[in-house]
Amino acid sequence: MKDAEIIPIASGKGTYVFDEKGEQYIDAISSWWTNIHGHAHPHIANAIAEQANKLEQVIFAGFTHQPAEQLAEKLLQRIPYHQKVFYSDNGSTAVEAAIKMALQYWGNKGEARKKIICFRDAYHGDTFGSMSVSARGVFTQPFNKLLFDVCFLDTPNHLNEDVVYEQLDTEIRKSLNQDIAAFIFEPLVLGSAGMLMYSERILDRLIGLCRENEILIIADEVMTGFGRTGKFLATDYCGNKPDITCLSKGITGGFMPFAATTCTQEIYNTFLSNEKSKMLFHGHSYTGNPLGCAAGIASLELFDSEKTFEKIEMITEMHALFAASLEKNQQVIEVRHRGTIIAIELKTSEASSYLNRVRDKAYAFFIKRKIILRPLGNIIYILPPYCISEADLTKIYESIRELLNDLQ
Ligand SMILES: Cc1ncc(COP(=O)(O)O)c(C=O)c1O
Repeated sequence: MKDAEIIPIASGKGTYVFDEKGEQYIDAISSWWTNIHGHAHPHIANAIAEQANKLEQVIFAGFTHQPAEQLAEKLLQRIPYHQKVFYSDNGSTAVEAAIKMALQYWGNKGEARKKIICFRDAYHGDTFGSMSVSARGVFTQPFNKLLFDVCFLDTPNHLNEDVVYEQLDTEIRKSLNQDIAAFIFEPLVLGSAGMLMYSERILDRLIGLCRENEILIIADEVMTGFGRTGKFLATDYCGNKPDITCLSKGITGGFMPFAATTCTQEIYNTFLSNEKSKMLFHGHSYTGNPLGCAAGIASLELFDSEKTFEKIEMITEMHALFAASLEKNQQVIEVRHRGTIIAIELKTSEASSYLNRVRDKAYAFFIKRKIILRPLGNIIYILPPYCISEADLTKIYESIRELLNDLQ
């Protein structure tokens, strides 16, 4: 597909990126949800530079290094119910590693469980395993016949929670030979599906039901992690905890391609054996890259030194007021917001979809106003860097209001 004009970007600073002519753009979607503290943050940039002068890369098999260990410790402090960290390069590989861990966990225990449960609208990445546990739709269509079968539950919303719970319960009862290996989900917000949101109440109930039936629980926090929904992890809203958590995007503050899949000691223990066939044969060349680890440590430090959660709270409060102001707008089907994410589903003559043609018009409209907003079809969403100012947020809201007036 031909996209709008491609804009060459020369530099970034805080909430902004600058093109080659020096024009400034507000990055209202944190450069595909990665850039949590703002662009070119000196604390992270310096940490990477310092690390690059010391050790840029080393094979992460049979060798380790201090930044990898320190980052693992820091992550596990935030995920105290997990004890082990597996590094990779991006969100899709974090999910691939999680799926393989879950399936091989059962294999190593001598149980032939291979069914995976997921939400009908899920998006977990672009590799074959992560596509298999994702919605069958526009992103997967050319490959659908090659993807492995999974069991889809309806995506929860505020109307169907009991139905979704019943669906999971029925699946579990149907599986007399206990062949369900895992349940994978994007906690509270399904990003690429259009920022679809559901409550922690139903998530907690679904995790609880899996737990009762010894089904492994995989939380894909690639988008929701690192404060995005108002807590450090979206699953922090739940009492029941996952066995495996996938992290990427915000992990390095948007500086390096990097990911981590964390898990419990119990899962790890099933791979500990003298039999080589029980090993997790999954490793990428850049696994545990020291520059990524240094960026990850520096990004976590900023949560304390810059009082990041106060900024997250400010954004959350402003989003709530904006959402309330759009309640009766005739151009809007629904406004959803959670933490620093707000999504406005536009009413158009077409159905809600990633392919809705209003997308191109809206994208161009915002680019003209020097705001990077990249609607998911007819769903406009804001997912800003946490350093955004009240003035810039207000400017984004105003431009959205202007678009809504324009569409009337
Ligand atoms: C929830 C979720 N999981 C996985 C991915 C894949 O991440 P990546 O694009 O880094 O492979 C994404 C990307 O948008 C995502 O939102």
